[in-house]
Parts: sequence; C-alpha cells; structure tokens
Amino acid sequence: MHPLQHLLDNNRRWSAARRELDPGFFSRLAQQQSPQYLWIGCSDSRVSATAIIGLDPGEVFVHRNVANLVVHTDVNCLAVLQYAVDVLQIKHVIVCGHYDCGGVLAAMSGQPHGLIDNWLRNIKDIYYDHATEMEAIVDVQARTDRLCELNVVQQVANVCHTTMVQDAWRRGQSVAVHGWIYGLHDGCIHDLEVTIEGPEQIRSLYRVAPSGLLLAG
Ligand code: CO
Repeated sequence: MHPLQHLLDNNRRWSAARRELDPGFFSRLAQQQSPQYLWIGCSDSRVSATAIIGLDPGEVFVHRNVANLVVHTDVNCLAVLQYAVDVLQIKHVIVCGHYDCGGVLAAMSGQPHGLIDNWLRNIKDIYYDHATEMEAIVDVQARTDRLCELNVVQQVANVCHTTMVQDAWRRGQSVAVHGWIYGLHDGCIHDLEVTIEGPEQIRSLYRVAPSGLLLAG
C-alpha cells in the first residue's frame, strides 16, 4: 500500500463531501479565484491559514514561511505580494504570527540551527531594535511572547514599505495591512491593532514618492 494512501483517501472523501454540500463549488473555483485576503503566516503546522479563520478554498491567498517574515530581498514573498495586490486586487493583507513560535524561540537562543540562522537573524535585529523593552521583561515566556508580537508589527511595516503596496495606494486602490497573533493554546487570534491603510502611517524615509515629486524636491 502507498504510504500516503490515507491522505489520498481523505482527499476523495473531502471532495465528495464538498460537492454534495455544494455541487457547483469546484466548477466555480476552477473558473477563477477572487480572494479578498492575502495571508502571510508562519509555516508552523498548527497555524493553518484557512482553517483558523473558517474560510474555504478560494477565499485566501497564502504565503507562509518560518516566522512569517517579509524580507525585502525575498523574491518569493515579494512576488506573492505583487500578484495579490496587482492582479487579484486583494483588499486586506493579514500578517499573522503566533505565540510560542519556534522561529522566534530559536532566534532568541544562541544555539546553532544551520542555514535557518541566517533567516532568523531578521528577528534578532528586531530584538535589538527594542532591546530596552525586551530586556526589561524578566519572564522568559513573556519576553518571547512580546518578541512574537513585535515581529508581527515589523512585518506589517515591511509589507507597507514595498513599492507594490505604495504604488497601489497611489493608484487609489484600497489595501489595508493588519497584524494579528494566534494563540496555540486556545486557538484564538488577537488583533494587535497596528493596521496601516496609507502612506501617511509609515515613516517618511520609507515612503516611495513618485519621481515627479522627487524632482520637485
Ligand atoms: Co512559528
């Protein structure tokens, strides 16, 4: 027997149940996708994008990586963001981190983890940007939780610093970027209330002005 046969069986049951519930479901989805949301989340197997917000296939465009990072040189993430904003015209980008994130924990430790340490260095940078606040938190769990939150806040800013999002705003396209955090222990999402909806909410140096304005000084 195929070692993954149970997964293929699950799929056939899921497909049959979905069609029984809604016979036109797959044929509609096959025509086109029109999700309203881009989800940028952690690869952690416990934080499944569609499951935890109760949405179906077709409703969320998804990018996941270790510790839900938006790194300006990550062409993979940038391509997802560009397609989501320019082509799919999504209205909301949700950066969703989670407490007890293994990536954040690893970034806070001095243990070597291989190549991934280069990726996690982005989180160490956030720790040092907030060193005073971080080091004032004595409890290790509380400090880790706070770094998980600060990581989300930074990634929200990083999404907004991209040319794709700023070009969309300039065109008058509505794009709101939200920061959420998920609790593994209770399955609940908390809104960190750091939503950004326009360039006036980001630091001036990160604003990409149209060339005409730059020339005008
Ligand atoms: Co994680």
